[in-house]
Amino acid sequence: MLDISDDIMTRRESNQPLLSDHVDTRPVIADEEIADRNTIVQLDPDHPGFRDPEYRARRNQIAQLAVNYTPGDEIPDAPYTREEHEVWRTIWAALQPAHQKYACAEYVAALKRLSFAPDRIPQLREVNEKVQAISGFRLEPVAGLVQPRVFLENLANGVFLCTQYIRHHSTPLYTPEPDVVHEIVGHGVTLASEQLAELNRMFGRAVKQTTQPEALEQLSRIYWFTIEFGVLRENGEVKAYGTGLLSSAGELKEMREANLRPLDLDAISHQEYDPTHYQPVLFCAASFEGMYQTLRDFLVR
Ligand SMILES: [Fe+2]
Repeated sequence: MLDISDDIMTRRESNQPLLSDHVDTRPVIADEEIADRNTIVQLDPDHPGFRDPEYRARRNQIAQLAVNYTPGDEIPDAPYTREEHEVWRTIWAALQPAHQKYACAEYVAALKRLSFAPDRIPQLREVNEKVQAISGFRLEPVAGLVQPRVFLENLANGVFLCTQYIRHHSTPLYTPEPDVVHEIVGHGVTLASEQLAELNRMFGRAVKQTTQPEALEQLSRIYWFTIEFGVLRENGEVKAYGTGLLSSAGELKEMREANLRPLDLDAISHQEYDPTHYQPVLFCAASFEGMYQTLRDFLVR
């Protein structure tokens, strides 16, 4: 279960408003005692959908699809409502121009391969079929969020664990937890790039070799500041290849205001981050190839 209550309390106590356009992209939770890939998230009272019994029932129904899912089977379709497809339309309308301006070329090419409809949420099943044909990566539904080690080690086997629910319709541009939009528009698309998919596999293999919590923590941070929030230079401009940026139009537009530091994996491995806010620090590679080589040299040792 993802416990977001502390984060929200901290924001409330410091009188910071909730961001209206933010995607919390954490792939993992901290409590290793209670979470496995079938743990169903209990919504916090501050969650936008907490007071909507229909939404909560649908969330549980979608989570149940994942609990009953057997890896390798066809992914069952989620019962999205008209309002939820409208959420996708709103997000997509904001993201399309932002992608044109701020997404790196590798992402734009991969996005074309998946060709999402603008007016309905793609089913995980459809995205999975395309991604698998391109990079061999398999998307598998999970009920909620999973432990860092479970999430990252699955990457070694070419498996990406995805949530299938979508954020509440009252806040189309805000979600306090990763939802299907982040999973598909962020990770699904990048896994339709052979090089980015390969980096995900390398992260998984590197994590499998770790035995100490500190080593896992360092790799988690490097994953965060590259795969989730990486930026690079392309023709002199700062472009995003990180899934957290590419699934939030608001954060994409703000990324050049961040403190941009050169890609330095040693520095990253000691850099703290807060998933509940726009990232104030980003690490910028000199090029896509430079980023790929740097990560590859580090992960394949
Ligand atoms: Fe993510």
